Amino acid sequence: MPEMVETSALEVRGVSVTFGGIAALQGVNLDVRPGEVTGLIGPNGAGKTTLFNVISGLQRPDSGEVLLDGRDVTKLGTNRRARLGLARTFQRLELFGSLSARDNVQVGLDARRDKGDLTAQGLLHRVGVSADADRQVSTLPTGEARLVELARALAIDPKLILLDEPCSGLDDNETHLLGNLLRELADEGRGVLLVEHDMSIVLTICDRIFVLDFGELIASGTPAEIRRDPRVQAAYLGTAPDPSEPEA
Ligand SMILES: Nc1ncnc2c1ncn2[C@@H]1O[C@H](COP(=O)(O)OP(=O)(O)OP(=O)(O)O)[C@@H](O)[C@H]1O
Ligand SMILES: [Mg+2]
Repeated sequence: MPEMVETSALEVRGVSVTFGGIAALQGVNLDVRPGEVTGLIGPNGAGKTTLFNVISGLQRPDSGEVLLDGRDVTKLGTNRRARLGLARTFQRLELFGSLSARDNVQVGLDARRDKGDLTAQGLLHRVGVSADADRQVSTLPTGEARLVELARALAIDPKLILLDEPCSGLDDNETHLLGNLLRELADEGRGVLLVEHDMSIVLTICDRIFVLDFGELIASGTPAEIRRDPRVQAAYLGTAPDPSEPEA
């Protein structure tokens, strides 16, 4: 029998963050396995982006630990974490607006020690925006700029990728294609952690989902378990359309 124990791509242990007396995160535990798409959902202000900031090293937690591939990185900076294979995209885009899409991705490639065989054009093609390669990013619609940011994140050939609302600004068809791509990235053995308000994509592509409410983890489980959890329905799903219902 092969060894079945696999190290998590990401483990968050007991993470708390307060901002001027407001508990943005309270003792949050979460893990992401390689080969899986893991969802992180919750109402506005629940603490999702704050947790991404803690994982990527932009926000120091008041307490708790972050482990990448079993290694404690809580005290490491953002660059060290990126070298260990962590990439992310931002809810508010962080691209160089005056550069072309291709040059933005090239910046990501240049950050690598080992270039591999990835090219900026190839990465833009993979996310579906190769036709925009020469356009200045500030002239792109938000949805396409988000995909350029994803291409740049993929330039480091990440083991773990965090996506903060990648579908906002995408139409239904683009959302569907992005969902397929995220599944593919997981099938390549990467860990994918997805923050997204579009519940139909979260419930469709995630293997497991964690639910935050007012900084506290109130549930975790498979999409089926999450849908029938009464606390989740009360906190979140109750206000969202049921994706199994045909649209009116
Ligand atoms: N730098 C900061 N300083 C003070 N308060 C902050 C800061 N960042 C976040 N907060 C507060 O922490 C809480 C969690 O915010 P966060 O942005 O993590 O939520 P979110 O789940 O990402 O919400 P959304 O779905 O709207 O993006 C909110 O009450 C927010 O106002
Ligand atoms: Mg957010």
